Amino acid sequence: MLDVKEIRKDFKAYLKHPNMTYLDSGASALKAAPVVDIMSEYLYYNGSNVHRGVYSLSYEATNEYENARKKVADFINADFEEIVFTRGASSALNLVALSYGLSFLGEGDEIISSELEHHSNQMPWLNVSQKTGAKLKYVPLDAEGRITVEGFKKVLSNKTKIVALNQVSNVMGYISPIEEIIKLAHEVGALVIVDAAQSAPHMKIDVKQMDCDFLAFSGHKMCGPTGIGVLYGKKKLLDKMPPVEFGGDMAEDVYMDKMSFKDAPYKFETGTPLIAEAIGLGAACEYIASIGLDKIACHENRLAKMAIEEMKKIPNVKIYNPNTDTGVISFNIEGVHPHDAASVFDKNGVCIRAGHHCAELIIRWLDVVGTLRATFYLYNDEEDVKRFVESVKEASDFFSMFM
Ligand code: ALA
Repeated sequence: MLDVKEIRKDFKAYLKHPNMTYLDSGASALKAAPVVDIMSEYLYYNGSNVHRGVYSLSYEATNEYENARKKVADFINADFEEIVFTRGASSALNLVALSYGLSFLGEGDEIISSELEHHSNQMPWLNVSQKTGAKLKYVPLDAEGRITVEGFKKVLSNKTKIVALNQVSNVMGYISPIEEIIKLAHEVGALVIVDAAQSAPHMKIDVKQMDCDFLAFSGHKMCGPTGIGVLYGKKKLLDKMPPVEFGGDMAEDVYMDKMSFKDAPYKFETGTPLIAEAIGLGAACEYIASIGLDKIACHENRLAKMAIEEMKKIPNVKIYNPNTDTGVISFNIEGVHPHDAASVFDKNGVCIRAGHHCAELIIRWLDVVGTLRATFYLYNDEEDVKRFVESVKEASDFFSMFM
């Protein structure tokens, strides 16, 4: 069990908004005090650049920045040089597609995606497919909307070169059978890119055990800052990939007619990096690991299940993922546009997301214009479930007057 009262002391947003029920951590989690503190410390008392200065202040900044890389590596059991800092999960996923995809794919090759992907893990591969002639195939989802091993086998072939799938869906909260998929993909020589934006904040990841080739996540969904994300890549793959951005810090030697680059991960970190943000992300990794990812996963799924049991008793409520594996609930008040329904929640201080969640393919698969989405996290409690369910009831009652 999580001690939510204790945990909330680390989230000062609750001091300013004591009556808030924050259920939009799938979009961005609230920021933990140890993250903000360590960032402020660097910004207040240092502020110098990294990898450049030949003076102690800059050495100190470099140490903190590289120490953050070590913390992130430890968080997912990667090696230090396998961690590339990016602007976010989207940038990380784009980096693989723009670098590996455009360099090594061509006609006759196949890429596997799914309708359960966030735009950030599907559009970069659609772009690669359009530019290289590689064929983009989609895993057929099962009746519940899940990626299954059986569905995956239907699209896997000897031509498959890339498999780009999520570990947890941002709309349905399902956990994909990613380890089995990785084994099967490797049997045909394909590489697997895991979108872990919705899993890294919520469950323990061990990239060595998973044996994925690439994995991406962002800081802002795990109580860390915006503007920073991570691309994990196996070193031998990062080594063979060309950089996609050129300029400061990533160059080794530059002449008028030729250039060379630093080794990975540095060849992918062009310009002055996100120093404070990386330091903040390192602290975020330590923070959530110290609370315990197994405990977090169990806590948020328990709260979501409690809410779903109550929602099932309310008329006109359609839940799209009643068997969610995580803290994500996608639903609608039947016949009501999710943006209209969301206003009732907002009036009551219940923060949820409404719309297509940057995942239009699954929204079309569900045959709706969008959904309401509540996501539970480590700072939510039973009182949040109660207030959320009351708002669902109120929205159902209110809109039933117009039907
Ligand atoms: N990708 C984020 C979400 O699912 C923003 O809400």
